[in-house]
Amino acid sequence: MSEQDTELETHLNEQEVFEPPQSFVDQANVSDPSIYEAFEENWPACWENAAGMLDWFEGYNQVLDESNPPFYEWFTGGKLNASYNCLDRHLDDRGDDVAIEWIGELGETRRYTYLDLHKEVNEFAAALRGLGVEEDDVVTLYMPMVPELPIAMLACARIGAPHSVVFAGFSADALATRMNSADSEYLVTCDGYYRRGEIIEHKEKTDEGVSGVDQNVTSIVVDRLGDEYDHSVQERDHDYDALIRNHTGAEVDPVARGSEDMLFLMYTSGTTGEPKGVQHSTGGYLSWAAWTSHAVLDIKPEDTYWCSADIGWITGHSYIVYGPLALGTTSVMYEGTPDYPEKDRLWEIVDTYDVNQLYTAPTAIRAFMKWGEQYPNEHDLSSLRLLGTVGEPINPRAWKWYYKHIGDESCPVVDTWWQTETGGMMVTTLPGVRDMKPGSAGPPLPGVDAQVVDESGEEVQSQGAGYLTVQQPWPGMLQTLYNNDERYIEEYWAEYSDDQDKWVYFPEDGAKIDNDDYLTVLGRVDDVVNVSGHRLGTMEIESAVVGVEGVAEAAVVGGHHEVKGEAVYTYVITEDGQTDNEALRERIITAVEDAIGPIARPEQVIFTPELPKTRSGKIMRRLLEDIANGDELGDTSTLRNPEVVNDIKVNASDD
Ligand code: WTA
Repeated sequence: MSEQDTELETHLNEQEVFEPPQSFVDQANVSDPSIYEAFEENWPACWENAAGMLDWFEGYNQVLDESNPPFYEWFTGGKLNASYNCLDRHLDDRGDDVAIEWIGELGETRRYTYLDLHKEVNEFAAALRGLGVEEDDVVTLYMPMVPELPIAMLACARIGAPHSVVFAGFSADALATRMNSADSEYLVTCDGYYRRGEIIEHKEKTDEGVSGVDQNVTSIVVDRLGDEYDHSVQERDHDYDALIRNHTGAEVDPVARGSEDMLFLMYTSGTTGEPKGVQHSTGGYLSWAAWTSHAVLDIKPEDTYWCSADIGWITGHSYIVYGPLALGTTSVMYEGTPDYPEKDRLWEIVDTYDVNQLYTAPTAIRAFMKWGEQYPNEHDLSSLRLLGTVGEPINPRAWKWYYKHIGDESCPVVDTWWQTETGGMMVTTLPGVRDMKPGSAGPPLPGVDAQVVDESGEEVQSQGAGYLTVQQPWPGMLQTLYNNDERYIEEYWAEYSDDQDKWVYFPEDGAKIDNDDYLTVLGRVDDVVNVSGHRLGTMEIESAVVGVEGVAEAAVVGGHHEVKGEAVYTYVITEDGQTDNEALRERIITAVEDAIGPIARPEQVIFTPELPKTRSGKIMRRLLEDIANGDELGDTSTLRNPEVVNDIKVNASDD
């Protein structure tokens, strides 16, 4: 490195505030700073700006109906269709523009113009109807990153059948739990897919899952691997390609859905072992996905935009499918991993397709940093105009690396805080308006009333830490938890809402606030770990571990991990008291993978004679976290069995 470079590097390391580049501001979708004040003064009418991004079959008569909180209703009386908004309305102006640019892991590509996508969505919608799917039937989609996944989502939306996408990496058991919970009788799946060049079979896992489903299932199988791969075929299976052939040229009128009719379900992890069926509306959700894509990701129809998440998570729903397609842009969809065939795969794609916005996760950025800047340096990344991150806190060093080595110090970086439940972004800088502070997500978006509060719910003034809350409803918010209004209130609204009439949403995250009202989200305060930006419930993992023969008791916590952010640490008491049992360790790991999927695989299984417990018998997870992180131990005075801490430390370091 030259002396000048070193000087630059030092300067960058010390810099805490970054202004948005003027060239970006000049062309930004939103660049008027008065938007914050205007939205506050004009709340909730300001959200007509979001609804106005969509085409409505019938106009709404009320922006927000607050008559039955916390069951808020948005754009009531309005009617619309998500598939119409993502497809039909673009056909006249840009039918021949690319909607989805799909890149397979092995290098094959498929390009869908808006006309192509409209055609196949219509055909598949007709096929679903032909198989008996009716409005409001939940259709489960258990597929990896193949174009048929967004096609199936939009086909469901077209006929008013809510979809429930289950991440393809989840296990057979996880599929069964979700299908049972949603009473879902229809399933779209595929034969298999590729990971780092290897075939991952998917159909057998699907079949195993379906065998645990209580209701009869009709399934549709996409052929991803071609004729050479012979997967099992069941009586309930229909071939996707054959269905499309049988419905060639079919057109299905988009069903007019009420604004508050369900668009989809997405299961996510929470405090208890049961996954939560987060339910999203059509009007509020789609408005939110479109408006945030416009205001934060700065998407314009002529852009080529890329979110590298998986559609199996909320990020892919809102920011690969619904938001970008509602705005009529080109959305890139990549099937594979960032290091296959080489560690420059992402940069090669940015270079080849002239990608304008890249939206990815801090865990990926930390991996890129580790691999080194030579990989991005091999490519021309000058098409990039904006960078984004989501899913977990980003450390300032990774932020600056991203800003410098990917963005060439000329792209704003938006660090976006949000959740499955919020439907879309909530806290982040408007890239054409606000300065950026590495490590801090930024101020709440205009019209979003996010506040940090203390234990008693009092607002923490500038420069304090506490709990993140949202004090006013917003259009993208979940409607409820599927079939469980009580749990919806208990999980999100019970903590900080007082008995009178103020309802406060609690996302279960801790946060800090600074003098400029910038928020730094510190992470979950409930029993959820965030592994590579994937949200996993420690209770779900624990219940898999204690189900293994030979395990007497178990506790699961998240420990720091250099690349993944957090990793799963499992502390186990064995029935026979043994603290060294390789075979049992393997069985525990397999049990977790079977119950949830490989993403939940424990990083460490630590056998211990006892777990630290309070006098009332509760496991002190906080102490186990300290041990996992090698931190100074917190207060141990409330322990019933303080000596156990040393035993655990010894066993952990033996590993
Ligand atoms: C965490 C993903 C810090 C947070 C969209 C949240 C973040 C959980 C950020 C939601 C961020 C997400 N900074 N933490 N920018 N974004 N999180 O439901 O703990 O999969 O509660 O939604 O991820 O995860 P979920």
